[in-house]
Parts: sequence; C-alpha cells; structure tokens
Amino acid sequence: MKALIASGGRGTRLRPLTHTQNKHLIPIANKPMLHYAIETVAEAGIKEIGIVHNADSDEVPKAIGDGSRWGVKITYIPQEAPLGLAHVVLIAEDFIGDDKFVFYLGDNMFVGGIKKFVEEFEKNHYNCFLTLAKVKDPQRFGVPEIVDGKIVRIEEKPKTPKSNFAVAGIYFYDSSIFEAVKNIKPSWRGELEISDAHTYLIEKGYKVGYAEITGWWKDTGKPEDLLEANRLVLDSLEARIEENVEVDQSTKIEGKVILERGAKVKNSIIRGPAIIGKSCIIEGSYIGPYTSIDEGSFVLNSEIEYSIVMKNCKILNVGIRIESSLLGNDVEIVEAVGKPRVHKFMIGDQSRIEIAW
Ligand code: G1P
Repeated sequence: MKALIASGGRGTRLRPLTHTQNKHLIPIANKPMLHYAIETVAEAGIKEIGIVHNADSDEVPKAIGDGSRWGVKITYIPQEAPLGLAHVVLIAEDFIGDDKFVFYLGDNMFVGGIKKFVEEFEKNHYNCFLTLAKVKDPQRFGVPEIVDGKIVRIEEKPKTPKSNFAVAGIYFYDSSIFEAVKNIKPSWRGELEISDAHTYLIEKGYKVGYAEITGWWKDTGKPEDLLEANRLVLDSLEARIEENVEVDQSTKIEGKVILERGAKVKNSIIRGPAIIGKSCIIEGSYIGPYTSIDEGSFVLNSEIEYSIVMKNCKILNVGIRIESSLLGNDVEIVEAVGKPRVHKFMIGDQSRIEIAW
C-alpha cells in the first residue's frame, strides 16, 4: 500500500499567515502540520509516500525532504493549478500504479492512527473506503446521504445536508478511483471534486464502505480550527523537559508543560498544556493553557494564553493578556513608549487585530 498526501492549494482563509508560508507547514504544538500526516502514514507501515504540492513553489519539498527521517521514501508530485482533490488523485496515477493507497489531506488533523481503517478496507475488499466524522456544520464539507446503512451519494458543500456527517480527508482506494476521476466534470467552482468521484463509484456499483471517526478530527481551514487543533494536540502530549533547559526558583510550572532544548524560563508561570520551543526566553510572564511558543521567541513581562506563536517572535511588556491569537514568524508585539499613549501598527496585508477597550 502507498500513501498520497495533498499539500497544495492557497490557504486563502488563513491569510496573512499563508502569504509567506504553505498552510501545511504551519506549526501545531511546534511541529509542521504535514509531519502529523507523514507520521500517521508511516506508523501504519506504509513506506512509499507521494506528496502533491504547488508546482510554483519548492517550499514543501525543501521543508520535508526525502522522508528518510521517518523511514519512508517521499516522491514529490507538482500540481500546476489548484484544480480540485480529484485532480490531485488524477496526476498521481503514475506514482500509484496498480497499488492500493490512502489519500490523506495534509491539513486534516486527527488522533488515533489509520491502522484499523487500513485493516477494514483490506479485509472487506472495498474499492473505496471513507471515514466519516460527526460535525455541527456539514455545509462546509462533503456530506454523505446514508440509506439503510449504505452511502448512496456524497454532496460537496450542500446547502441542505442529508446527514450531519462530514467525509473526512482520509480516504482509502484501489485503482478504480482513477476511472472515477477521469470521468467526472468540474463543479461550479471549477474543481474536480473528490465527492463527485465517490458518487461516481457508488453509481457504477463499486464497493464503497465507511467507518466513523470517533476520536477527534479537524479540518484546519480557518484560524480558529488551528487553535483548536493546537489545543487537542497539546492535550495528547506528555510533559517533557529537554536538555539545557533553565528554570529559575521563582518560576511555577503547572500541569503538562514541554520545555524544548535550551529554553530559559525566569520568574514566570507556565500553566500547561503548553509547549515552549527551543532557545525561547520567557521572563516575568504568564503562559497559559493551550499555548505553543516556537523556537527562538522571547516573551518578557507579558501574558499569553490559548495561542500559537511561531518562530522568533518578540512579545515585550504588553500590558494586556494576548488570547486566541496566531502570530506568524518574526512578529513583534511591544510596548508603545512615550506620549501620547497610542497603539502603533505596522501590519502586513490581510492581517487582523482585535483590540479590547
Ligand atoms: C475537502 C473535500 C471535502 C471534505 C473535506 C475534509 O474540502 O472537498 O469533501 O469533506 O476536504 O477536510 P475543502 O477542505 O477543500 O473545502
């Protein structure tokens, strides 16, 4: 069995973060999102992975490499334009050949592994095996219509969903999926929809099965999804203190906290679940639950909670607690010095700031 991982697209709903970095490389608990997909696939014993990426950028191949650090072999498949998920499958035909494969959307985060799904897919000789998750907003997803325990159709982003399930972005196929992706037409949004390929298989009488994901699953399309995924991942990690970490006497570490190599914490409260990245300095500050602070960041006399802070940020003497926030790399939030008392902004395109008065 092989794996195909999607890492293309523009991530427009996550701008400005995605102006300068691929959505799939955004860190969740200080680890690029794409690592979770690769780890999940490698854990299931799959050794050959194809990653489809935007043809106009080598960011993903550069960041991920050849796969040797996970004991897998990664082949990169460039996609010229974001023409839909069924198009991602279509351009991977040479890589997949006649093998069975799991198609994994690199922006889907879930816990629990795929081993049990692989077994069920193979044992029952399905042509296509889908994973479903109960959601509050099925309109955002591919939604199955289920009659007498069987999926009869999948609708992509329906206005009136026929169930409260989303088809999650972890699909299992044999090579009949290639017949499907070659025979469907682009949708109203100009994309070859993976849901239409699934409906094609059902209508042609192929064996399509499904299982429900009972643990947590997240499609990280929006900023609040990233924060939620970060919360869920931090919750699942164990406390850890790596080498060369310095924590002084007046610091309080409460709950599950990960301190990565060389982090220094002085006169602060760190209340887990939280992760403080390599060589970070935290001084005179409060780091609250569900916060990830990535490598090289400096937090001085400030408070931050339920947030993702990426690499090399500076948060210095900020007089109000920062919450539910996503800070990209090299972001600075600092005290405004002098008179008059003002807020001063230097903000990139499509940034968003919320201010409490
Ligand atoms: C895509 C699929 C949709 C699926 C979802 C899962 O949606 O088109 O069928 O339910 O992924 O994450 P998109 O993320 O492209 O809106």
